[in-house]
Amino acid sequence: MTLILGIAGSLRRGSYNAALLRALRELAPASIVFEEASIRGIPVYDGDVEAESGLPEPVRALKEKIATVDGLVFVTPEYNNSLPGPFKNAIDWLSRPAADIPRVFGGRALALCGATPGPGATNLAQVAWLPVLRVLGVRPWLGRFLSVPNANKFFDESGALVDEKLRERARAFIAGFAEFAVGSQAPRSGARSEPKASGVEKV
Ligand code: FNR
Repeated sequence: MTLILGIAGSLRRGSYNAALLRALRELAPASIVFEEASIRGIPVYDGDVEAESGLPEPVRALKEKIATVDGLVFVTPEYNNSLPGPFKNAIDWLSRPAADIPRVFGGRALALCGATPGPGATNLAQVAWLPVLRVLGVRPWLGRFLSVPNANKFFDESGALVDEKLRERARAFIAGFAEFAVGSQAPRSGARSEPKASGVEKV
């Protein structure tokens, strides 16, 4: 069974990105298992904490979860035309130690999408993630684009995705990604060593 893990990069209670993630889970094909993970509880990265105590428990747990999945969906907000700090901070922790990157992320299918109440649709945030994905050594899926502007028009007050056209786009997005992720079939054991995360040696 193909296992996809979606992560929303916002802690906000009424987060549009968390709402988009829930919609993707609802609309995912029955042939896959779609789970959600949160970045809640991950502290601000501090190299001294890492050196003295290793990884905080929420980071350790999320790392091991990621190491078991076939595909990842990053549902990203956009902050200041770029990556949202809390989400990037979580990925920074998850990339430690760098020698673990191939086991945790290497070769896993990854899709990006995002939502904003603004007009820019998270396009710049999604582009800003690309160099990070290269360091992680994931297999990015670029088959469809799911970038939601003016999110307040598409989600109701409970966070449900109520726009029929966008629901169809979201359904096609997650179905296309599921098909791609099946092809990747990253090993569940976490024993993956190939392909290497391309940028690891340089960071
Ligand atoms: C934003 N927001 C924002 N939106 C956007 O479309 N482009 C941007 O560059 C920014 N910049 C930005 C910076 C900072 C510091 C904040 C806090 C917010 C607005 C942002 O899209 C909005 O707060 C979303 O609601 C955040 O996503 P969630 O929490 O709804 O998932």
